[in-house]
Parts: sequence; C-alpha cells; structure tokens
Amino acid sequence: MGLYLNVMVTVASIAIASVWLAVVKNSPLDPLPATYPSRPKEEGVFAHNALLHGVEKIGVGQVSGPEDLAVDSHGRIYTGCSDGWIKRVETDGQIVNWTYVGGRPLGVVVGLHEEILVCDAYQGLLNVTEGKIQVISTEADGLKYKLTDGLDVAKDGTIYFTDASHKFDLNQFPLDFLECRPNGRLLKYDPSTGKTTVLLKDLFFANGVALSEKQDFFVFCETFKARCRRYWLTGENKGSVESFIDILPGYPDNIRKNKKGIYHVALTTSRSWIAEELILRYSFLKHILAQAQLELVFWNNLPKSSRILAVSEEGTLLAVYEDPNNKEVSSITGGLEVGEYLYVGSLHANYISRLKLQ
Ligand SMILES: *[C@@H]1O[C@H](CO)[C@@H](O)[C@H](O)[C@H]1NC(C)=O
Ligand SMILES: *[C@@H]1O[C@H](CO)[C@@H](O)[C@H](O)[C@H]1NC(C)=O
Repeated sequence: MGLYLNVMVTVASIAIASVWLAVVKNSPLDPLPATYPSRPKEEGVFAHNALLHGVEKIGVGQVSGPEDLAVDSHGRIYTGCSDGWIKRVETDGQIVNWTYVGGRPLGVVVGLHEEILVCDAYQGLLNVTEGKIQVISTEADGLKYKLTDGLDVAKDGTIYFTDASHKFDLNQFPLDFLECRPNGRLLKYDPSTGKTTVLLKDLFFANGVALSEKQDFFVFCETFKARCRRYWLTGENKGSVESFIDILPGYPDNIRKNKKGIYHVALTTSRSWIAEELILRYSFLKHILAQAQLELVFWNNLPKSSRILAVSEEGTLLAVYEDPNNKEVSSITGGLEVGEYLYVGSLHANYISRLKLQ
C-alpha cells in the first residue's frame, strides 16, 4: 500500500511538473511578481461623483475610439481614430475626415507649423499634414518601438514622446499589464537633427506627456504603476525625475495642461484589489491567464469607472470628474480643455464628449 501511494505521488508530481514546464515554456510572459502602491480610499475628493453624466456627444458614429485630442490655432479639434483616420471637429461641430494614417493613431498634438504630430501605436512618431504622412521616428538606441503612445511638443519644437512597450504591441497590451515589467521608454525627438534620444527607460507602460507652462519640466504617466511623474528639463534638478501625483485610484492614460496650468489626467479604468493583490502578485497565475488567452478578459473585468483628474502644477488634486460604471463614456483616455468645455477622449466610444465647465 505504501509503495503504491509513493508511486502514485511520484507520477502525479512528474505530471504536474511537466504540465507546468510546458506552460512556462510556451508563455509569452516573463512576469515579475508586482507590488502596487496602495489604493486611495474612495472618500473626500475621491468620493464617487457623476459629473460626467449628461455630457454632450459630438460626432456620434463618425469617430471610432477618439483616443487623444488636440486643438489648433483656429479652435479645430483633431483626434486619432481606431480605423486609422485623423479626424477633425470643425468649430461648428462638423466632423471632417482629415487624413488617413493607417495604423492606430493614439497621442496627437499640434506642432509649431500647425502640422499634427502623432504617436501611432504601430508606425511610430508621425508628422502629418493634410493628406501627407511622414514617419519621423521608429526606434532609439537600436530598439524599435512597439507601442508609441503619448507626446507633447515644446516651444522650441522638441518632441517628448513615449513608447509604452518595446515588447508588446497595442493588441497585446494586457500582456504587458500581466507581465509587470518596465518595458516602456521616454524619448526626445530633435527636429533640427532628426535624432531621437532616450531620456528614461524601464518605465511601466509610459503613456501621456504634458509640458509645463514655463517648459521647465514635463509630466508623464506610467499607466501600470498608477502614477504620474515629473521630469525636470532645466535648473539644478535637470534630468531628474520626481513624483508628481501617485497612488491614483485608476490607471492613467493621457495628460493635458490647460491655459491656467492645470493638468487633466485621464484614468482609463479603476484599480482592483483582486487584480493587484490576488493575481498580479503571482507569476504562475499570470502564466495561466496568458496561456488561456484570458488577458483581455482579465483587463476588461477591472472595475469600470473612468475619471478625469484636475491636478495643479504642484501635483495637488483639485477635482475629479467621474463617469461611474462608464455609462456615458467607456475607457476615458484624454481630457482637453478648450474654451469653456472639457473635451473627453475614449479608447472605445464612437463620439467625443464634452462637459461644460463651471
Ligand atoms: C469618413 O470616414 C468614414 C470612416 O471612418 C466613412 O465611413 C465615411 O463615409 C467618410 N465620410 C466621407 C464624407 O468621406
Ligand atoms: C512636418 O512637416 C512639415 C511639412 O513637410 C514641416 O514644415 C514641419 O517642419 C515638419 N515638422 C516636423 C516636426 O518634422
């Protein structure tokens, strides 16, 4: 009996070990057991509100997934859509199919010559003028970008932009979330030389970028660490990084500064205790999810509540605009103040929303 049991236990152990080895061997992940900053209590300024309910919807059915928004000197708003179009909202609200870039345009900003600078997830950094596309950066330090994501342009024409991951592309972004490795980089494109340099590497899904009014720093978001940090461009701290706002209740995407020096940070989705404490800490669970191709299901089951935060230049939280349960807008990715409105971008909605600010 004892011998029989021993044999059974040995066989079972070998079987489990072999299955496990196969799982790890074929896994697309090289996961790190992640630890996360604490989640803020949903009280005080983070108490749930429904300020984004009742937003006005613009261009319904004519813009698919207007991820980021930019405004030109005529007050026209540009956005990148999931069908590869850069679309323009005229001042009378009409939507124009402006220029087809083909990939998946994410970050958009208006350049010094009114060109539209675009982070296309698949193609890299683009310079787009009406009907004309120029790819201006696709790699740095010999490493190709896989998910070019957010950007801003300085008054001297320098472009600061991010590659969220050099390992996973946009379709695979939930794998980057599961892997919990810093695969992102912050980059700088110099238009006078056409050269791109790496400012920071080892970032956790580097995303939106916004320069300060005085151009002495910029803020960038690290989506999967639920934080935004400040990178100093001038002064004695030049080249160093410090906290701007962290311990956010959701995962930050784009960030845009208004004329009064207030930063609007879009939180795409809420953080979840189950995800962060029970799943993302354990490599074997991450391998199993990835093997079963459940990473998107996992991501889509995070609590759905998107927000836009208004944050002062000092990193103080001033206001939260929330759409609980994503009733009005799904997956908010950007907030751009134009005139008396806060325009809201989304990864999935088929319209741009806007909220009249008080
Ligand atoms: C604009 O582009 C959309 C696809 O994004 C297309 O369905 C529509 O017909 C186009 N409109 C015009 C006027 O070309
Ligand atoms: C983008 O292209 C336009 C027209 O070709 C040019 O005037 C502008 O300087 C370019 N911008 C950058 C950042 O390369």
